[in-house]
Amino acid sequence: MGWQRRHILGLRDFTPEEYELVLKTTHTFQGVLARQNWKVPTLSGKIVVNLFFESSTRTRSSFELAAKGLSADVLNFDPGTSSLTKGETILDTARTYCAMGVAILIVRHREPGVPHLIAQDVDRRGVRVFNAGDGQHEHPTQGLLDLYTLCHALNPDAPHPSLLEGKKVVIVGDILHSRVARSNLWALQRCGAQVHLAGPATLVPKGFTELGATVHHRLDTALSGAHFVMALRIQQERIDQQLIPSLREYHRLFGLNHERLRLCAPSVKFLHPGPTNRDVEVTSELMDDPDFSLIDRQVTTGLALRMALLYLLGGGKP
Ligand code: NCD
Repeated sequence: MGWQRRHILGLRDFTPEEYELVLKTTHTFQGVLARQNWKVPTLSGKIVVNLFFESSTRTRSSFELAAKGLSADVLNFDPGTSSLTKGETILDTARTYCAMGVAILIVRHREPGVPHLIAQDVDRRGVRVFNAGDGQHEHPTQGLLDLYTLCHALNPDAPHPSLLEGKKVVIVGDILHSRVARSNLWALQRCGAQVHLAGPATLVPKGFTELGATVHHRLDTALSGAHFVMALRIQQERIDQQLIPSLREYHRLFGLNHERLRLCAPSVKFLHPGPTNRDVEVTSELMDDPDFSLIDRQVTTGLALRMALLYLLGGGKP
């Protein structure tokens, strides 16, 4: 199958063939990254702009490094010192970059739908758009890098999406405000995993059962026999009322530690997209335990995955 998609905006409508091709291409780029010279000329002469209207460390740096690894010229837009402060609209900002000949825009915004709006506007100019996280809606590249990380943990030589068939994956934390949870839910379910969501009722509404997930308000029952556990950050910046009694209480009831992981399958590994609140979502000891943590691997995979997607969108032949 050839690659058809012009923008990466969300995983809700991703097909099994697309997951397969993305994982396969990411695997190839893992190999490229292991070489001493990991730069390839695919995007040479093309301009990539990071349009981040919301804070980021991992995602922004990872997109920048990935674009540079493909030999693109990369601009990092800073909203605080841009013409937005003079009243320019986001669409006019995007159009300005288009007039400079940009090929790919990477967009993060606190409002859901902004990357889609920009994609609609710039599509006729042949410009490609990535959603790097829009509000509580989706974070497709995180969902895809998590998918690769899980499949790679199951078979490092051939990380195929079908490896997840029947595997139990628990996502614990602030599901309500998490775009990572939504993108992961689409990806994991499409690849045949059983998705269990855990957290306090204020952060994991029952409505998620309609999306095909099993909802738990007690972590210990959720963890029973789990193959993977994904902890999510308490998104304090998006919580405007008292949804949990305190961070200490949250940790007592829903924090991951070594003891709780004993309830899971013996081979269990855990993930966290970062940034992490140490000793809130996961104990410090567990976070730093390489026998269980896939956190560093998620970050490393993020680079290969974004190179793969930039390659596929930039016109490379798989
Ligand atoms: C996530 C995000 O920004 O959505 N982080 C990330 O991209 N690695 C998760 C979060 O902020 O909690």
